Amino acid sequence: MPEIFDKIFTNNKQWVQERLDQDPEYFKKLSLGQKPPILWIGCSDSRVPANEITGTQPGEIFVHRNIANMVIHTDMSMLSVLDYAVNVLKVKHIIVCGHYGCGGVIAAMDNQEVGLIDNWLRHIKDVYRLHKDELDAISDHEEKMRRMVEINVEEQVFDLVKTSIVQKAWRKEQPLYVHGLVYDVANGILKNLDVSVHNNAHLDKVYKFSSLFSL
Ligand code: CO
Repeated sequence: MPEIFDKIFTNNKQWVQERLDQDPEYFKKLSLGQKPPILWIGCSDSRVPANEITGTQPGEIFVHRNIANMVIHTDMSMLSVLDYAVNVLKVKHIIVCGHYGCGGVIAAMDNQEVGLIDNWLRHIKDVYRLHKDELDAISDHEEKMRRMVEINVEEQVFDLVKTSIVQKAWRKEQPLYVHGLVYDVANGILKNLDVSVHNNAHLDKVYKFSSLFSL
């Protein structure tokens, strides 16, 4: 059996002991339920672990991760996580967190056919097409990719806002903020893109829901 596989059990035992040493009731308390204030939508990249980079504890962040932290309207997994987080857990903040050097974004900007994933990455190509003028004006490739990562996060924030779930929460005056962040794998710094929103005022009219349609 690979060494890393054995190691996770040794590590786990040690971690359980450390937690119990600090608080003998630690797991008992966690088992009573969760009330996390944050929903995190991040990249599956192994270098971007939500709790670790934010110094948060189990129970504080509800997490959804996929390749390139995408908010795809037909993704039942993402929509279910979002619905549960907003309507049951009543999170106060939703964070979309991208990261520089994202393999998904880089692959999407390339023309190499990879396989099934190309269909997922196509959504990132759509983001590029929307911001082509700004991005193509950046001559440095690395700089262009970094900006693309930021723009992709911004678009996913807007895509969250377009959902019926987020707009319904706002219509009910439920406090809910949506933020866009970028993590730098090369130095560990989390950057706020300052695109936080808490209402649908800035949304293009076509996306706005005013009230429930009744038959
Ligand atoms: Co990534």
